[in-house]
Amino acid sequence: MYISKSAIFTLVLSGLVAFGTLAHADPEKLPVCVGCHGADGSGVGMDNVPIIAGTPAPHLEEALYAYQDGARHCTGDPAMCAMAATLSESEIMELAEYFSSMSRISSGEAFDETLAKAGELVHEEHCAVCHLQPDDEESEEALGIPLHGQRSAYLKAALEAYLSGDRDTLVPAMATKLSQLDAGQIEALINYYASYRP
Ligand code: HEC
Ligand code: HEC
Repeated sequence: MYISKSAIFTLVLSGLVAFGTLAHADPEKLPVCVGCHGADGSGVGMDNVPIIAGTPAPHLEEALYAYQDGARHCTGDPAMCAMAATLSESEIMELAEYFSSMSRISSGEAFDETLAKAGELVHEEHCAVCHLQPDDEESEEALGIPLHGQRSAYLKAALEAYLSGDRDTLVPAMATKLSQLDAGQIEALINYYASYRP
């Protein structure tokens, strides 16, 4: 059988590509996550699913452990908690690295300028010490998860969950801050976070 030089070259090349794929294998559970969070970590059109692309890995890990140990209850979608329950420590690490390495996307939602300005002031006064912008170099070491550009429906659901006790705030200082907000300030904050464009 005659094998052309170019065929051999192609074979060698595809071998190298296969090796490259193996060396940087995607996390095993990735296909499941992608079903709801999207291949780019920004979701597949479901309002209640948070953007996880570009969120620093330690925050993604902390969230996944919170679903596992019951600090977060997934009342909106029990499938997330069921999924988290199956993850090993090394899978959590791999998946967090994977999604954190993607570029951050803003939900790009419409927002009210006036409310966004008011929200910025509330944020600076009560939230900014812990919740830095996703593109801030210190964001990884900050106590809180970046909120700027996160999907509004998810932010609202998360805030309601903390206020109703469905989620543990993990740091008592945030519980105090949240309990002091009125509905108008929450609406302003949501508009401010929606105004972020990376
Ligand atoms: C059935 C849809 C679904 C699947 C599958 C799914 N998620 Fe989620 N994910 C959600 C929803 C909904 C939430 C919000 C849940 C809540 O807090 O009530 C969420 C929240 C999260 C959060 C928290 C983000 C934040 O800002 O706090 C992380 C991290 C996460 N998911 C990672 C993953 C990973 C990794 C996988 C795959 C192993 C996965 N998810 C699979 C729907 C899903
Ligand atoms: C002392 C630090 C601190 C302060 C101040 C703080 N937070 Fe947080 N925040 C945290 C931590 C820690 C978490 C992660 C908790 C968890 O895993 O559920 C968090 C999580 C959140 C989440 C969930 C984000 C997500 O992706 O799931 C929202 C929403 C939030 N905070 C809103 C606020 C708002 C609004 C304020 C200001 C009124 C505020 N926080 C003030 C520390 C803080």
